[in-house]
Amino acid sequence: MKHTLPFLLLATLLAVSCKQELSTPETRIDERVDSVLRLMTLEEKIGQMVLYTSDWDVTGPTMRATYLDDIRKGHCGNIFNAHTVAYTRQLQKVAVEESRLGIPLLFGYDVIHGHKTIFPLSLGEAASWDTAAIELSARVSAVEAAASGLHWTFAPMVDISVDPRWGRVSEGAGEDPFLGSRIAEARVRGFQGRDNNLADTLTVLATVKHFAAYGAPQAGRDYNTVDMSERVFFDTYLPPYQAAIEAGAMSVMTSFNELDGVPATGSSYLLKDILRDKLGFKGLVVTDYTSINEMVHHGVAATDAEAGLLAVKAGVDMDMQGEVYFNYLKQQVEEGLVSEKLIDAAVRRVLKVKFLLGLFDDPYRYCDEAREKRYVYAPAHLDAALEVARKSMVLLKNDRQALPLRKGEKIAVLGELAASTRDMLGSWKAAGDWDFMQSTVDALREYAGADQVMYAEGAKKQGEDRSGFAAALAAARKADKIVMVIGEDWEWTGEAASRTNILVPGVQTELLAEVAKLGKPVVVVLMNGRPLDLSREHRLADALLEAWYPGTMGGKAITQVLYGEYNPSGKLPMTFPLNLGQVPVYYYAKNTGRPVYLLNDKYKSKYIDAPNDPLYPFGFGLSYTQFVYSDLTLSAPELTASGRIEASVRVTNTGSYDGVEIVQWYVRDLVGSVTRPVKELKGFNRIELKKGESKIVEFTLTPEQLAFHRIDMSYGPEAGEFRLFAGGNSRDVLETGFVLK
Ligand code: NOJ
Repeated sequence: MKHTLPFLLLATLLAVSCKQELSTPETRIDERVDSVLRLMTLEEKIGQMVLYTSDWDVTGPTMRATYLDDIRKGHCGNIFNAHTVAYTRQLQKVAVEESRLGIPLLFGYDVIHGHKTIFPLSLGEAASWDTAAIELSARVSAVEAAASGLHWTFAPMVDISVDPRWGRVSEGAGEDPFLGSRIAEARVRGFQGRDNNLADTLTVLATVKHFAAYGAPQAGRDYNTVDMSERVFFDTYLPPYQAAIEAGAMSVMTSFNELDGVPATGSSYLLKDILRDKLGFKGLVVTDYTSINEMVHHGVAATDAEAGLLAVKAGVDMDMQGEVYFNYLKQQVEEGLVSEKLIDAAVRRVLKVKFLLGLFDDPYRYCDEAREKRYVYAPAHLDAALEVARKSMVLLKNDRQALPLRKGEKIAVLGELAASTRDMLGSWKAAGDWDFMQSTVDALREYAGADQVMYAEGAKKQGEDRSGFAAALAAARKADKIVMVIGEDWEWTGEAASRTNILVPGVQTELLAEVAKLGKPVVVVLMNGRPLDLSREHRLADALLEAWYPGTMGGKAITQVLYGEYNPSGKLPMTFPLNLGQVPVYYYAKNTGRPVYLLNDKYKSKYIDAPNDPLYPFGFGLSYTQFVYSDLTLSAPELTASGRIEASVRVTNTGSYDGVEIVQWYVRDLVGSVTRPVKELKGFNRIELKKGESKIVEFTLTPEQLAFHRIDMSYGPEAGEFRLFAGGNSRDVLETGFVLK
């Protein structure tokens, strides 16, 4: 132990460690936590329940100028939006050397898809369907964050969403609870390390957010009301939170929204009955940014003080930025409105995390400049970011062999986004620098030769300016193929970035239409963080590549995919609608009583002006090669309550490139005590196939996979007939059936 803590604290901790030889590691930590708690005044305890932002980053509506003084007085035990070894050490020194007890600070930050080395934004990563790659991204993020002095990330965001109007779909894993759960686990493993050993100085504490159901705001408007049945909540929205908690995530962030009339931050139902009792969560609960105060606006508390009472009684341990606990809790305890026992329980959870991170052994153990230098932008991290970016890209269309491009073809690159680096990082870029990286056009020039690649901006990402059209068309006329990079400004996705139309903004598509008239092959590369209405682009372009915001290595990744150095394999983690009117549209819909396949033409569940089918279904994504599915078979026609069935399907690469296919397995429960979705994803395999190669892919079916919340809200499967589907997306599938006994 490095003797960097004040004498009183140090002596107490040493005394406890001498007594502890016979206890378990868990009780040893609890004893040490209690030994510290006993030294604390009520005010100091409340200080541990306070989290303030530094002025290094703005991620919410309020700032506080005085956090240094708060730290010094023991009024603030936790800081976010501060990073780098130099700055975190400076703040830590104030806590450790100038506050009475010297309790170390906990440093948090939104390390969502990278810290310095930025990976594709989370929805893009989800499109890889590659949990190992996603875990690697979180691992690299954790290493860089921890090496920059951080202990805690506010990720993973695991909110399911079916509404592309909501800007924050970019931060999650899309619409599906099964895929979302696997990705949630992978991210927790990556952040906290495989053995959840927070004492390892290259791990960070993960935060599951936003608890709960934040992904379903009405009309897709951020922070808006959420209302859903308990059954939908349990079967669709809850599983990824549960998976992340079961993977060991040690903190949970409450959400801004209400659910069934109760704001999550004051909901004992969510934070006690569900989170603690049902999911068995033992870690730390932090609010979202000022979400205690916002309960006044929600209208469940008349004052901040009342809102604070709701939160603390519901089990919120830490107040992010709201200053509510700090301003009112002491008096509320003194007046007997809150028991000090409740405060102690919350403080214990905060201190425990600090012990687990080893901060009481050495508060500066994350402050090492040499480590920071070694890990930030390490070559292996950049390689990983390139790999994940390539895997995240989804080929949506490829006609006339527009792709892959060939070296020697003259290309005209158009669009403001083609020359942008900042946009490539997307929202939540953490500490990522965009000066450090290549734009798409730079990367294309480096690969194909500057003389082969012309660039004209043509159209801006937004606005009505058409003044660049003529130059763009002139460049396009001289080219063999045109590559247009279009999409959304990075600020149009993420938090507080809801849209009422999901078209490609501005005049970008208008320029595309002009370019398409030239009759030359036109390739569109999309940068965006939500499903867009791409019906016009689908008509106009020969090829469409969804590149999301691909991160630090995005330029190179796009180039390698366009030139066929990497054969795209991504699959959509969210349905892309035909138009906004279809929203919400998702593959696990119910059949309804009047499905479209019924003969009667009028009285069906459909639109009169568009089909029900989306433009690109969930799970969709092409390759430069083709995969053919055949021979879907089951080892038995019946599944017993304790049994299993092996399913298999043959997948053949019939095209002329080696490739990767993501084989997807769906089921449908034909008759239930409540209506069941027309398809539910139950498994997937990522397989590599050389050209001409054929493989049998297997999947094991068990009754547990068929469980859901039945009519009486009990959880389990119901006997009866099921369909099983296998395919390369949720629409184009082979089908067979089995019976659950
Ligand atoms: C508000 C966001 O909702 C949350 O996701 C984020 O972690 C906090 N701000 C802190 O920046």
